[in-house]
Amino acid sequence: ERRDSLPRDLTGCTLVVTAGGTREPLDPVRFLGNRSSGKQGFALARLAVQRGASVTVVAGATAELPVPAGVRVVNVTTAEQMRKAVHQLSERADIVIMAAAVADFRPVSVAESKIKKGNDEPTSIPLVKNPDILAEVVKRRDQGELPVTRVIVGFAAETGDEQGDVLTHARSKLNRKRCDLLVVNAVGEGKAFEVDSNMGWLLKADGTESALPLSSKNLMASRILDAVSSVLHTS
Ligand code: CTP
Ligand code: CA
Repeated sequence: ERRDSLPRDLTGCTLVVTAGGTREPLDPVRFLGNRSSGKQGFALARLAVQRGASVTVVAGATAELPVPAGVRVVNVTTAEQMRKAVHQLSERADIVIMAAAVADFRPVSVAESKIKKGNDEPTSIPLVKNPDILAEVVKRRDQGELPVTRVIVGFAAETGDEQGDVLTHARSKLNRKRCDLLVVNAVGEGKAFEVDSNMGWLLKADGTESALPLSSKNLMASRILDAVSSVLHTS
């Protein structure tokens, strides 16, 4: 896509996007992490700058991605650090996009020194739930604490199971999270993680659903920002 052909529909908007995976330490050398590359979040950041937004990425662990021109990056490691950064930045953000893979759980305690073989070998890792950053942002807006925030976007990586198919899970996640847009990636064999393309749906809070056909993360970013822009310009 030629840069000069892009709409400048996000001019004047401040956008915060999370990207990559959080890492939850277990001891000084080990952590619980995930395979998120951060590519979708960085693709969104790059394109949003080109469309006129002022953009900050709150980045957990990512593949070694180049920082797009004009994008500010705040690096974090844990979910708790990501939470603090997002809450601070969202106070000035028109748009908050939660593309990061936030660890749902963290070890209850972090060993001060390396866990060793020998005596007292662990057989399990006690975990505690991490705060749901997206749900907290939505709640803060409900309570009037985020007066400038107009669009909150969540991501969901879903597989079908006995409980229901991808879309069924996604609809109930949108109802639970109550964000304005939910980007749903169908995952499973080789999809979404560490690859350059995604497929899924875009669910809006008003019930509108559109398919996101298999495409590059850049094209996906463009479709997501189109939806963000339409929420901005119709509300
Ligand atoms: N998310 C978040 N904080 C968490 C977990 C998730 O902000 N502790 C955000 C993610 O960044 C994403 C959205 O919530 O935008 C949905 O994440 P997902 O893992 O699909 O949802 P969960 O509520 O964690 O449900 P699940 O049990 O399916 O993992
Ligand atoms: Ca999760």
